[in-house]
Amino acid sequence: MAIVYGGDYNPEQWPRETWAEDMRLMREAGVNRVSVGIFSWALFEPEEGRYEFAWFDEVLDLLAANGIEACLATPTASPPPWFAATYPEAVMVDADGRQLTHGSRQGFDPSSDVYIAKALQIAEKIAERYADHPAVGLWHLHNEYGCHNTRSYTKAATAKFRTWLRDRYGDLDGLNAAWGTAFWSQAYSSWDQVYAPLPTPTIPNPGHVVDWKRFSSWQLVQNYRAEAAVIRKYSDKPMTTNFMTGSHPEIDLWEFSGAVDIVSTDHYLAGEDPQAHVNLGFAADYARSLGAGKPWILMEHSTSAVNWQGRNRAKAPREMLRNSLAHFARGADAIMFFQWRASKQGAEKWHSGMVPHAGTDSKIWREVCELGATLKSLAEVEGSRVQAETAILWDFPNAWAQEHEARPTNEFTAQGIFDAYYAALWRAGITADVAEPEGDLSKYKFVVVPAVYLLSRKGAENLRQFVNGGGTVLVTPYSGIADETDTVYLGGYPGAFRDVVGVRSEEFYPLIGGRVELASGGHGTIWSEAAEPAGAEVRDTYADGTPAWLVNRFGAGTAHYLTTFPDPDTLDRIVAAAAVDAGVAAVAEAPVGVEVVRRAHDDGRSWLFCINHTDADATVKAAGVLIDVPAGEVVVHREHA
Ligand code: GLA
Repeated sequence: MAIVYGGDYNPEQWPRETWAEDMRLMREAGVNRVSVGIFSWALFEPEEGRYEFAWFDEVLDLLAANGIEACLATPTASPPPWFAATYPEAVMVDADGRQLTHGSRQGFDPSSDVYIAKALQIAEKIAERYADHPAVGLWHLHNEYGCHNTRSYTKAATAKFRTWLRDRYGDLDGLNAAWGTAFWSQAYSSWDQVYAPLPTPTIPNPGHVVDWKRFSSWQLVQNYRAEAAVIRKYSDKPMTTNFMTGSHPEIDLWEFSGAVDIVSTDHYLAGEDPQAHVNLGFAADYARSLGAGKPWILMEHSTSAVNWQGRNRAKAPREMLRNSLAHFARGADAIMFFQWRASKQGAEKWHSGMVPHAGTDSKIWREVCELGATLKSLAEVEGSRVQAETAILWDFPNAWAQEHEARPTNEFTAQGIFDAYYAALWRAGITADVAEPEGDLSKYKFVVVPAVYLLSRKGAENLRQFVNGGGTVLVTPYSGIADETDTVYLGGYPGAFRDVVGVRSEEFYPLIGGRVELASGGHGTIWSEAAEPAGAEVRDTYADGTPAWLVNRFGAGTAHYLTTFPDPDTLDRIVAAAAVDAGVAAVAEAPVGVEVVRRAHDDGRSWLFCINHTDADATVKAAGVLIDVPAGEVVVHREHA
């Protein structure tokens, strides 16, 4: 099998003469799959109930004739103008209560029954007509669920929210207990009093807000499931939808990934961040983890600039090749882009494509062709897996709960802390999975717990078992503080697992000056707490003797607990020490900025992907072998005979 290579193909933006050229160029570049139909609803159904498919028959026939597989989309992310004009109540309302209008994309209310009915109708028409078309290889449902409309505050959403809450809590007593409505006279005496949380004069009820975020995420998963059920009547081909693993923490992907046949994701580099390839690593590791380690699809990334960041820089020569192969190294078996041909009109005309505005005499096109050839040469890597003995925890309700405005400090977010600890693992060369607190941790030796403030009793017990059984954890401040209803565990922090970390803190002291010196020479940032060892050994302290880093033996395992967020060098030392306790090591010895990841088949064939993100030539040492990796290049080293 060839590795999948391609991108979103939007032929409706171009005259027919261009389609023939597209086919020729796709073959030249080695493209073997394109996603089609994503934004074609207005052409498929120009007026409600009147369908025009002849143009698209031609597109699919052309693809089939050229041996290019179609990843066929349902166009439900962007309803046509007639939809908003006919059903204004089905258009989204934003968090400020503003009624939005048509004129962009994804403006519908996900809870609207009219929207759902219309979306299922067009999905069914497409499935009926094309399920057996020889070009169609898989289904691309919708596009980036919730990218612009995760939370829509309509009457329809409020009605569905009430039903969802009844299912969750059974009755109002359950709801009142979970939300702690005894506080501020908020007890509900009828379901009609419960609304989507629109703006309030001051701090809203945190349980209410976090449940609204849970509900809004759940609703989108239901929308996917409804479309999938329609397609399934006509086709047994795999279905997916493109997640946004690097950047969009508003949909619970642990829940959503259970609904797709294969995980796919989109990733865009933050152009202004010189370390953006670290976030790429996270997005890729996360996509792999959502599919329990199975190969996944990189459905979109960019050949060069995007158009939606403040300053949209073009990629440096060879940067796109490094990005693509870094995704491949971390388990993607399909490398695709948004989009095939850069648009000359519309909202995304300044977004790069595989065929740029400049045409084929260009850096982008030459690299696109080179990547196609490289992927072809790596065909035997397809299907191999990335092994990780380390996991870093991510939980959506935890992140949502930490968005609440009234908390010990607003100087960090769950995502920010996660990113800092993921980056430390990246710098250490340790390949990590992303795991959910309640997930199966048995295959890991080392688990990082980055500000998992909201931790269910089940999640706490899961970590306790992990350490008790011999695992090592590294726990940051503000972890294990509240349960799944955002109710604080009493008796001293971190109440979910004081016994595991062997520490008890009575109060938090966010750092007013932003910095606390450590006895070891480094410094802490943002946070400090009045921690007392309750069994743990103190490894480092603040200058006044308060413990900063404690290590506790619990059962057969070890817990490292921090009471501040150390500077990166200090954090690197701590991660290294915890990794030694855990018995995990870097994939290879490599200079800073050189990424090394291994993919291996069960039969022992394996490859080391060495990606040099620096301006200097480097040497990687793995299992006694020296591998030269020129500046800015990727070397794929075959380890087996
Ligand atoms: C998302 C969408 C695409 C396009 C790109 C631009 O990933 O799915 O349609 O808008 O962003 O970066």
